[in-house]
Amino acid sequence: MAAIAYVNGRYLPLHQASVNVEDRGYQFGDGIYEVLYVHRGALVDAGLHLQRLARSLSEIELPAPMSAAALHAVVLQVLRLNRIQTGLVYLQVTRGVARRDHPIPSPAPRPSLVIIARRKPEPPEDIAAWTAEAITLPDARWARCDIKSTNLLPNVLARTAAKRAGAYEAILFDANGNVTEGAASTVWIVTRGGTLLARPLDAHILPGCTRAALIEELQRQRLGFEEREFSLAELREAREIFLTSATSFVKPVVRLDGAPIGNGAPGATATALFELYVRRLRASA
Ligand code: PDD
Repeated sequence: MAAIAYVNGRYLPLHQASVNVEDRGYQFGDGIYEVLYVHRGALVDAGLHLQRLARSLSEIELPAPMSAAALHAVVLQVLRLNRIQTGLVYLQVTRGVARRDHPIPSPAPRPSLVIIARRKPEPPEDIAAWTAEAITLPDARWARCDIKSTNLLPNVLARTAAKRAGAYEAILFDANGNVTEGAASTVWIVTRGGTLLARPLDAHILPGCTRAALIEELQRQRLGFEEREFSLAELREAREIFLTSATSFVKPVVRLDGAPIGNGAPGATATALFELYVRRLRASA
């Protein structure tokens, strides 16, 4: 069965699905996207993702192509047509088609909406099968990383460097030597002193939905954590490092720039939080 994509009101086989070459998403990266995980038919943290989508759209003055409820329904239809129970959904809204000129066109063109879905396995039973290596790189992105823009060239280059180094993720640091986030994930550490840390939200990082979900779980279980900036030096000497994202769930980093983190195996905190998050996924189905 050919994969089916949703493009501007139509459900089409992927090879027939296309947008205009003058779509501003194509020419300028003038668009917003979301990636959601679907677990046994349920969209995980759909509310958080749709809220973040609305905020990103509003920050770039891009009108929503339809209501959140209608969007949710279209996403479920794409999953149905592709017979996907567990996998990921990629959704992007771009400014639409206009003669190439940098300023936002007025009157506004009709936004383009594209949705595709892909099957993906469930998280493994054993976290030992879910570890990652990471490298560190200067954060070369713009000053509004809180907007989930389709403009991902620095992320593409960072993840390419990671891949070439045999790693999964590039952990980025700012000009002050503080960690911002992964090229496509949120970074957490357990310090040498045993404190669970995430960087506070600001314009330099994406407000991760998995991060928000995990914080909700931490609070529910009355588990302590702190939000403060941490340096590259603290990252290197951390007891544990782990990443969160819609598709990596809770993923322990066991080697950083080739050196083992902790004893080179998933730590107790990452393991506990992985299990907590997987339980949450199962409960959402
Ligand atoms: N990436 N930071 C960045 C830069 C990201 O691109 C992502 C997600 C995250 C984690 O966000 P969330 O928990 O909402 O998935 C943090 C997606 C998965 C991607 O680009 O494929």
